[in-house]
Amino acid sequence: MKNYDNVVIFNHPLIKHKIAILRDEKTSMKEFRELVEEITTLMTYESLKKGVYTTEIEVKTPLETCTQQIVKDDSVAIVPILRAGLGMVNGVHVLFPLAKVGHIGMYRNEETLEPCEYYCKLPDGIEDKLVLLVDPMLATGGSACDAIDLLKKRGCKHIKFMAIIGAPEGVSKVAEAHPDVDIYVSTLDRCLNENGYILPGLGDAGDRLFGTK
Ligand code: PRP
Ligand code: URA
Repeated sequence: MKNYDNVVIFNHPLIKHKIAILRDEKTSMKEFRELVEEITTLMTYESLKKGVYTTEIEVKTPLETCTQQIVKDDSVAIVPILRAGLGMVNGVHVLFPLAKVGHIGMYRNEETLEPCEYYCKLPDGIEDKLVLLVDPMLATGGSACDAIDLLKKRGCKHIKFMAIIGAPEGVSKVAEAHPDVDIYVSTLDRCLNENGYILPGLGDAGDRLFGTK
């Protein structure tokens, strides 16, 4: 895959360790859910090194008063792409407990692999927040591209997209369609199969999170 200025692939050993367990078909639904949350917290920490809204406050230590930077907690909004993105929300909330949550419902048509939007509810004032769009899987990139289009139509200017596993096809598609969006992927897999599933991947993230198959 080409290098893109707006794409970061983490390849962090701790995250890779957790992803190895996540991929395993024997991993239970409970463990899968917990791992998705933990990986998301680690990804959020890394992704928000830059671009977070901060403000200055005065702090009185036992010795003197100093000016300190704090993160404006409600300046972040989390937007999961349903269903599987829901599994990542708590992982961001660990670091941003006051972040409001919007929901974008999309499913892939299993034949065309095109995303179909079925739900959208976003918090008031989202256009002024840093929006963390989350979905564990970035396959063809269709769902992420459409979700970003939707957020931009709502006036969002500052969007970061986090996916746990990405396929090169999907990462390139989103990076080229939205060069102004920072894309964070924990690990880049080999390719898509003929049904649009990521290889080696982890199967269907929504089914594994919610036990639907
Ligand atoms: C999965 C996944 C992404 C999408 C990725 O959702 O959670 O939203 O596929 O594929 P793409 O990059 O090719 O668009 P799915 O459509 O299976 O819906 P679900 O989360 O409800 O299971
Ligand atoms: N959605 C998933 O849940 N898994 C894939 O491999 C591709 C899309």
